[in-house]
Amino acid sequence: MNELAWHRYGPEPSDGAPPLVLLHGFPLDSRMWAYTISAAPQLPVITIDAPGFGASPPVDGGLDAYADAVAATLEHAGMARAVVAGLSMGGYAALELAQRHPHLLAGIGLLDTKAGADPQDKRVDRLQMAEDALGEAGARAVAPMLDSLLAPGAPEAVRTEVAGWLRHASPSGIAWAQRAMAARADRLATLTRLDVPALVLRGAQDATASLAEHEEMATALGTQVIEVDGAGHLSALESPHEVAAALSDLYARATA
Ligand code: MLT
Repeated sequence: MNELAWHRYGPEPSDGAPPLVLLHGFPLDSRMWAYTISAAPQLPVITIDAPGFGASPPVDGGLDAYADAVAATLEHAGMARAVVAGLSMGGYAALELAQRHPHLLAGIGLLDTKAGADPQDKRVDRLQMAEDALGEAGARAVAPMLDSLLAPGAPEAVRTEVAGWLRHASPSGIAWAQRAMAARADRLATLTRLDVPALVLRGAQDATASLAEHEEMATALGTQVIEVDGAGHLSALESPHEVAAALSDLYARATA
């Protein structure tokens, strides 16, 4: 079983409490969480790089293999349970964990993501991007994503940083992730079966995942959507203090 690269921040969890595991969006890596982590230094955080991103090796398979690799990584590190929060693609992985390893979850956070599967035209676009990334375009295939990831008023420093990450994204990681996301199943019913503290959060200017999609997940989980004004799809980068406060609240509820 593949294990993924992970990074620890903050204190050790107290008295066998679970860590807060953060799963990043596409086509980024764990660096995406740096501002949120700085805004919540009291939280025992683990970030995990997705397969083929950051320092993680590829996996054989799609989001199922990603979720299995997260579970194996945590198990090997001696963590029997975790509060898992994922942004966008990280949310898809958290949903897959809920489907395949529900006993692992002490709480779930779903940020700027959706539980539904893709419509056919979106799948076609994803498979095309996978081809482009493996061909001449390489990482240039993801450059046009910048405007859909960030709110129009995102700080210039954040725009510059994200543009740099897009330029250096791994072409094989891009292709793997797009194929995995294109094949993902609808996981709304999984959420209705999950009985753990939950957070559903969205940047109010998220151009990629709608309020209706978040409300659907929140209803399934018996909670309400938190909307962060002024943030787009990368809420954790654009409004790290608000996201850190929401994750701190989730963690407190999950470990009370
Ligand atoms: C992400 O930020 O992870 C992506 O927007 C996910 C997606 O393409 O659906």
